Amino acid sequence: MTDVKGMTVAVLGAGTMGRGIAQIFAQSGATVRLFDVVPKALESAQGTIKKLLNRAVEKGKMSADDAAGAVERVQLVKKMDDIGTVPLLIEAATEKPETKIEILKIAEKSLEKGGILASNTSSISITQLAAETAAPDRFIGMHFFNPVPVMKLVEVVRGLQTSDETVAQTLRYAEAVGKTPVKCNDHPGFVSNRVLMPMINEAIFTLQDGVAEAEAIDEIMKLGMAHPMGPLALADLIGLDVCLFILEVLHRDLGEDRYRPCPLLRKMVQAGRLGRKSKHGFYPYE
Ligand code: 3HC
Repeated sequence: MTDVKGMTVAVLGAGTMGRGIAQIFAQSGATVRLFDVVPKALESAQGTIKKLLNRAVEKGKMSADDAAGAVERVQLVKKMDDIGTVPLLIEAATEKPETKIEILKIAEKSLEKGGILASNTSSISITQLAAETAAPDRFIGMHFFNPVPVMKLVEVVRGLQTSDETVAQTLRYAEAVGKTPVKCNDHPGFVSNRVLMPMINEAIFTLQDGVAEAEAIDEIMKLGMAHPMGPLALADLIGLDVCLFILEVLHRDLGEDRYRPCPLLRKMVQAGRLGRKSKHGFYPYE
């Protein structure tokens, strides 16, 4: 099995997903160059990682030394030139194709020969992103789930040009950071969001139609279906803007009415109610 101890990886984007990815690699012994253009995002990411690792120490799940070591291994990088040369680069930037392409084109210069460029995109075509890079055979989707330190899955998405070797090495990296990788092919929403987003959308239609209050919808799905959280609370965790974006991709690329985003979801996003990150979604947050 591949060991990431002593290896250096780069993570591009210090948002919710990027900081989670940085944390699990650092916890597994890798040095992480965490890049973001917004200095505040880097500071906030470092704060979150410290807090979560301290909590693990308090719960007796990790030694104080291991936690301190992991925090130290996350190096904050404000300029892409400072990333250095790495064998694995994971992009977790804003879910906008033009932004991702711009970042990937610069970042790939930091890849060591034969290195892998991975995207944590939740719905943008891996084949499309790969085609913009110099080595599409070494480009792959590495789709993590929120909260990254807790969720076991990495959906490993193979683009049309991804090589067998890139797939095999990515599976090894995911296992080395304690995750369970599952392979799928590049298709809108992959497996996870193609199945999950219609359920979330339907829950929002159910709320819009006045069938039940948000709490009741979530309680029914939690208690009746044994989901760890209801679909509306989950949408708040994922971010309502992210849910809307993914549904728009599914609707446009699969061309089926069943993926049409619920108007209430659109309204919530227009109102800036994006879920936990804006302290207000289907529920208020402190
Ligand atoms: N970051 C890190 N750790 C967290 C966390 C966070 N944001 N939230 C909770 N945890 C940890 C807690 O510290 C606790 O750890 P412990 O077992 O070591 O004590 C553990 O998770 C359980 O937390 P809680 O007891 O506080 O709460 P719950 O038991 O209710 O679990 C949950 C919280 C893990 C979020 C659970 O409700 C859950 O699994 N929800 C579903 C999440 C899900 O479906 N995620 C996928 C979203 S889809 C996605 O990300 C793809 C994208 O493309 C859209």
